[in-house]
Amino acid sequence: MAIIIRIFKKIFDYSQWLFKQNKKRVLIEIFRHIFPSIQRQYKLDRMVGPVGYWSELQAYQIGTLKKLGLQPHHKLLDIGCGPLQGGIAFINYLNAGNYCGIDIKENSIVEAKRLINKIGLISKKPFLSVSNSFGKDELSKKKFDYIWCSQMLYHLDECLINELFQQISEFLTSQGKFIGDIIGFPNNVKEDSYWDNFSFYKHEVEVLKKMANKYELSLRKLGQIITFGYPAKLDLHTNELLEITRK
Ligand SMILES: C[S@@+](CC[C@H](N)C(=O)[O-])C[C@H]1O[C@@H](n2cnc3c(N)ncnc32)[C@H](O)[C@@H]1O
Repeated sequence: MAIIIRIFKKIFDYSQWLFKQNKKRVLIEIFRHIFPSIQRQYKLDRMVGPVGYWSELQAYQIGTLKKLGLQPHHKLLDIGCGPLQGGIAFINYLNAGNYCGIDIKENSIVEAKRLINKIGLISKKPFLSVSNSFGKDELSKKKFDYIWCSQMLYHLDECLINELFQQISEFLTSQGKFIGDIIGFPNNVKEDSYWDNFSFYKHEVEVLKKMANKYELSLRKLGQIITFGYPAKLDLHTNELLEITRK
């Protein structure tokens, strides 16, 4: 009997510890089975990464681009846009017709279109498309003032980064900026780990600079994403933000 009581006490202590560690996550886990709206948001969160951070990550994304000079008249391409965690804020902020979002996953674009309808943003005329060519096959001849690539560069191997840089050199206006983040230091990322079937790659800034050079592009570090408002609680807050411009 004493053993059973001890086991129950251990389970109780562990649940309390778990709850204290991640109260928000535990509450979402419980309530998503009761409230359909929480379940829908849970599914969206799972499509972009950490659960329970949609609004904070949205604020980080729009805040970062505004700090870096984004204005409503600018044309923006959001590569790996997912179901529009940042996209909704960008579309709201930009003039009609100035937002393009592409993603390799069809279900992300389906969800993105559903959200646009639900929120009533069709009048802002966002362009959304599935693409496995970084927009080469869908957006040829278009030019962008800003190209945003949030939480995606580290899912690309060197061959794909090379393809992306070539495409950036086609898309950027003369004063345009590409902004994206790579894994920074320190980090807890294991190279053989996966998120949603995507591998993780730790890129060296010097190697990326040389790759950018081939396409007459300059690459520089802007600082860790935590300094741009990325939530400190999340593992990837040490990620390094990069800016790529024409030489
Ligand atoms: C971690 S999620 C980030 C989503 C969004 N950028 C954000 O920060 O809210 C990474 C996204 O990149 C997309 N992705 C991965 N590889 C891609 C590729 N080669 N081309 C386009 N999208 C890609 C995934 O489908 C996923 O939606």
